[in-house]
Amino acid sequence: MSHRPYVIDEMISAKAIAARIEGLAREISTEFADTDKLVVVGLLRGSFVFIADLVRELDLPVEVDFLEASSYGNGMESTREVRILKDLRGQIEGRDVLVVEDIVDTGHTLAHVTKYLASRKPARLKTIALLDKPARREVDFKASWTGFEIPDEFVVGYGIDFAQRNRNLPYIGKVRFTDSPA
Ligand code: PRP
Repeated sequence: MSHRPYVIDEMISAKAIAARIEGLAREISTEFADTDKLVVVGLLRGSFVFIADLVRELDLPVEVDFLEASSYGNGMESTREVRILKDLRGQIEGRDVLVVEDIVDTGHTLAHVTKYLASRKPARLKTIALLDKPARREVDFKASWTGFEIPDEFVVGYGIDFAQRNRNLPYIGKVRFTDSPA
């Protein structure tokens, strides 16, 4: 698919993302105000921009860890099989954990990851996704916090790739193929 010509139209500006993250960070700081044990877990690779901005807005002592969970394949569609490619470095038993994700699409990734992490008996396990595409859901999953609900568009930027490109765009854009009518 990546050989098709395309342009990227801005969908959510960098300014709108920053404003939303400020609000989310306030809610999260309130939720975890009673703990000094928060571990913020970014799911590689898509969350790396979001987690960097989010943790800098949190008014809490946090530890940052990463986990890589990937569906098979490298195309536009998520497949159903989720693999843990890289595990956490630290222990989470008895600790408060916030899993940070860029987008919930079918829901398989976060459903699998939360089940996987829950088996380690964290004290609290919450999730945050910058984007949510409810129209694509295949398993019942809702993040504890969501930045933006979006329609079923093919999005890139702010950590999200199209065939490993465009993760460095500072905004969320929508891919528009120019070899077919919009
Ligand atoms: C993408 C995205 C989410 C997941 C969402 O990850 O970053 O992790 O798919 O899809 P789902 O709700 O249908 O499971 P991908 O496997 O493309 O890896 P990446 O984060 O390295 O881009």
